[in-house]
Amino acid sequence: MEKRERFSSRLGFILISAGCAIGLGNVWRFPYITGQYGGAAFVLIYLVFLVILGMPIMAMEFAVGRASQKSIAKAYQALEPKGSKWHIAGHFAVAGNYLLMMFYTVVGGWMLSYIVKMAKGDFVGQSAEGVSQVFNNMLANPAELTFWMVITVLISFGICALGFQKGVERITKVMMVMLLVIMLVLAVRSLTLGGEAIEGLKFYLVPDFGKMVENGIFEAIFAAMGQAFFTLSLGIGAMAIFGSYIDKDRSLMGEVVNICALDTFVALTAGLIIFPACFAFGVNPGEGPGLVFVTLPNIFNQMAGGQIWGVLFFIFMSFASLSTVIAVFENIISCTMDRWGIPRKKAIVINLVLIIALSMPCVLGFNLLAGFTPAGMNIQDWEDFIVSNNLLPLGSLAFLLFCTSRYGWGWKNFISEADAGKGLKFPKWARVYVSYILPVIVLLVFVSGYVQKFF
Ligand code: ALA
Repeated sequence: MEKRERFSSRLGFILISAGCAIGLGNVWRFPYITGQYGGAAFVLIYLVFLVILGMPIMAMEFAVGRASQKSIAKAYQALEPKGSKWHIAGHFAVAGNYLLMMFYTVVGGWMLSYIVKMAKGDFVGQSAEGVSQVFNNMLANPAELTFWMVITVLISFGICALGFQKGVERITKVMMVMLLVIMLVLAVRSLTLGGEAIEGLKFYLVPDFGKMVENGIFEAIFAAMGQAFFTLSLGIGAMAIFGSYIDKDRSLMGEVVNICALDTFVALTAGLIIFPACFAFGVNPGEGPGLVFVTLPNIFNQMAGGQIWGVLFFIFMSFASLSTVIAVFENIISCTMDRWGIPRKKAIVINLVLIIALSMPCVLGFNLLAGFTPAGMNIQDWEDFIVSNNLLPLGSLAFLLFCTSRYGWGWKNFISEADAGKGLKFPKWARVYVSYILPVIVLLVFVSGYVQKFF
């Protein structure tokens, strides 16, 4: 058996875990959902969910990973009481990683393709209609979508193939630092655009709960919860894997706070880049998923030096998405190695082929299979729905129950693992909350989300 991977430094662990969390969820999904649900009031609910729901569950994932020293494919087996069936949750978690990547690689590909489109000047001098046409033409072209998806997959597995420390850790660290720098530059640019930019800031930062109630408060709450799970990649063991690569010299809650702070900082700053720019140029921020691909190129068109800002913006987006793809691929590789007992290189080759094949339905859902829209959702919507609204919350529920129930791994084991090492401890008073209240919150919001969506 190959030796278990290890981080070369604590910073590596924090930045890679943050890289797993920071992704399209922060820079694409968060701004457009915030735009749709009316701005600041939504942001507030989202932040509450991050703290009351995201942080404890992330600590649990890390604890399960660190105690078992296994990927989620085997972690439950390693820790569950003999004869119990918790490991079934592990199978769903593995499936969740694949399902997430089935559409993530495609959207990641759009980001890469937009760097090139921006640099080539495809949007220069285009009307608003011309700009959306570029996006629609891309979606209508299966060859182009496949090409960029494959590039995304190749780059990411290529980095994993360099090894964990030399590839994943080293390159993600550089990408994350560059991402933070580019992001700050873009935010300063957006905030100094003048005109109505300040209105964008208000939209983003001053809550209007009246408007939220009008648009459906429960829908907003469900969306905020889904977003909290999505942005932290919780419930599918994508975080647990990095717990399995660290030692016990630091308690887990302190690391969780660092990672969540970085993730939130990036999401909030993405909004600071996008909303002031939308308002400065009189563009509606409630466009939905097309926000960064249709709305923003229009803005760059009107800005002085817009082409360069556009290229920088999509490099920023690409770093965010690649850091997540690489992290989730690392988890998938490790799961395959644990499950089948095969070496890393072999696991990479198998998964490379598998992920490309599995990403094809999403690609085709925009063109050849565009007519396939059960319940009004295309293939990507379905994949996103299954992952974000089902596997992530239910997988998180499994972690919660596993770590708190005496029929699972149990509170005592969890707390001694979470608190091992220096740093912030998991609050003891939270035991009743995470054992009884939090599972009910997750379930309630989960069920009411279904009611909202389908009835
Ligand atoms: N956590 C990842 C993201 O936010 C999935 O994109």
